[in-house]
Parts: sequence; structure tokens; C-alpha cells
Amino acid sequence: MFNDKPILIKITHSDSDLLKRYSWFRQQPGCNWIITGSGEGDLPELAITRHGVILKNGAEQLSFHPSMALIRLINLLRGESDRYLEATQLKAGDALIDATLGFGSDALIGAWAVGEKGSVLALEQSPILAAIVQDGLNHITEIIPNAKNKDKHAAWAALERASRRIEVHWGEHSEYLKHIPSRSVNVVYFDPMFRQTCKQSDSILPLHQWSVHNPLDHGAVIEACRVAQNRVVLKERKNSSEFRRLGFDILLGGRYSPVDYGVILV
Ligand SMILES: C[S@@+](CC[C@H](N)C(=O)[O-])C[C@H]1O[C@@H](n2cnc3c(N)ncnc32)[C@H](O)[C@@H]1O
Repeated sequence: MFNDKPILIKITHSDSDLLKRYSWFRQQPGCNWIITGSGEGDLPELAITRHGVILKNGAEQLSFHPSMALIRLINLLRGESDRYLEATQLKAGDALIDATLGFGSDALIGAWAVGEKGSVLALEQSPILAAIVQDGLNHITEIIPNAKNKDKHAAWAALERASRRIEVHWGEHSEYLKHIPSRSVNVVYFDPMFRQTCKQSDSILPLHQWSVHNPLDHGAVIEACRVAQNRVVLKERKNSSEFRRLGFDILLGGRYSPVDYGVILV
């Protein structure tokens, strides 16, 4: 469940790049930082290092890496389909609101699909996740390996371009959506933490303690239907009663997948 303990923020070296990154994190809204040296203990810790930013809590560690988006993009560039893109029907030039950013895989795939004329506004209620993912997107070039494999190289280059189209905002989506004009984006997408536990991918597991697990609010869906021009999409556990409760039609497909996508056409 959502961990809102204060976080000890540390920098490992006084390099100017690390100092800049440190002060960027210190300015992020909603994060409750404790500065090194002033009251340690068993607090979670954000370490800003020459090898990246690592959020530690006991034995658990989390750092931003677009691994799932990379695999999906390699497959997309090979001509394979992606169920999220089939559900959202995103096209070049579209504007997307990803109302549940999480680790940003879907936002990155969406940002790739909408292309350079499109945009992605990504909302995340957990302040530390919003900050870590925005920082990770800002610094994505630093983790791009020197890939010899042609497909991987192309996917990383596409991810890097896509990352620049994502604007992350810390906030609760129902509240945020209320301030967005009607019919001003093409698609609004929800991927809330699943209501019932099911086996989840390794990429989602480290997210658990930092993310918000509340069920999707009906009011948020109503706002999303006002804001979207084309459709509102929900990803949920297969056979979830959430689709019916919130008024989504389940799309066919993904027979062996543990998840379904539901759509409201507006
Ligand atoms: C399952 S994850 C999303 C995963 C994401 N689609 C991806 O590709 O990485 C759900 C995220 O939504 C966030 N969340 C839950 N309720 C929210 C709300 N009301 N407003 C904004 N974010 C919310 C959670 O904190 C969590 O990080």
C-alpha cells in the first residue's frame, strides 16, 4: 500500500549534475524529504548516485527503467500488435491523458504512437513515483546501452524521442480532470492497481508499496468521458466486475492474458 513516510534524500558525490538532480528532487511537490544527517533510522532513502537514482526501503530497491516499454516497442517495430494500442486506437497527433502513470510503460508506448505532433499528459497520485518517473524520463539517454542489436537500438531511439512528449503531474486524477476543458484530448486511459491480487509482472511489483491502491472512482470516469473526444479506456484484471460497475464494454482478445481492456466510446 501507499507508503507516505518521509524519505531521506542523499547524494553520493558533489558533482554538478548530481547536485542539479538533487535540487530538482527537493523541489518536487508532495514529497516529504528529510535531509541527510537530520534524523535517520529505518526511513526509506532516495540515493542520487553517478549510476542513477535509487529508492531504497529495507531490502527493496526501485529505480526507473523502461524495460517493459522497450520490449513492447521492439515487438511493435517488428510489426506485432499491442493490446493497449488496439484498445486506445491512438493515432499520430493525438492527445492522451494517462491518468495512472505508474512506471510509465503505457505512457511511453502511447507517446510513441501519437508521434511528434501528439502529446501525453500523465497523472500520478504518488508524489515519489511521479518524481522518480519524470526524473527517469528526463535522464533516459543516460541509461541507453550501446546496443549492437539493430532492433534494440531502434527501440531505444524511439523511446528516447517518446519520453520527451510526456508531461508528468503529481495529482489525484479525479481532481485534475475537473480542470481540463471538455473534449480537449482524444483518449483518457486508466490502469488502476488491481482490486484483487493477482500474479503481477516483476516490473509492477516494486511499485506496490509506493503506489495508490484505491478503486477507480466513478466520478473520475464521468470526468474522463467529458474530457475525451474519442474514448476512455480501462485496463483491469480479466473478468473484473470493475468493467460493469464503471460502465465499460470489454474488448475481445487476449484469450490467455490475465488482463482485459474496456472501452467507453464518447
Ligand atoms: C497499475 S499502475 C499503472 C501502471 C502503468 N500503466 C504502467 O504502464 O507502468 C497504477 C498507478 O496509478 C496510480 N494511481 C492510483 N489511483 C490514482 C489516482 N486516483 N490518481 C492518480 N494516480 C493514481 C498508482 O499510484 C499507480 O502508480
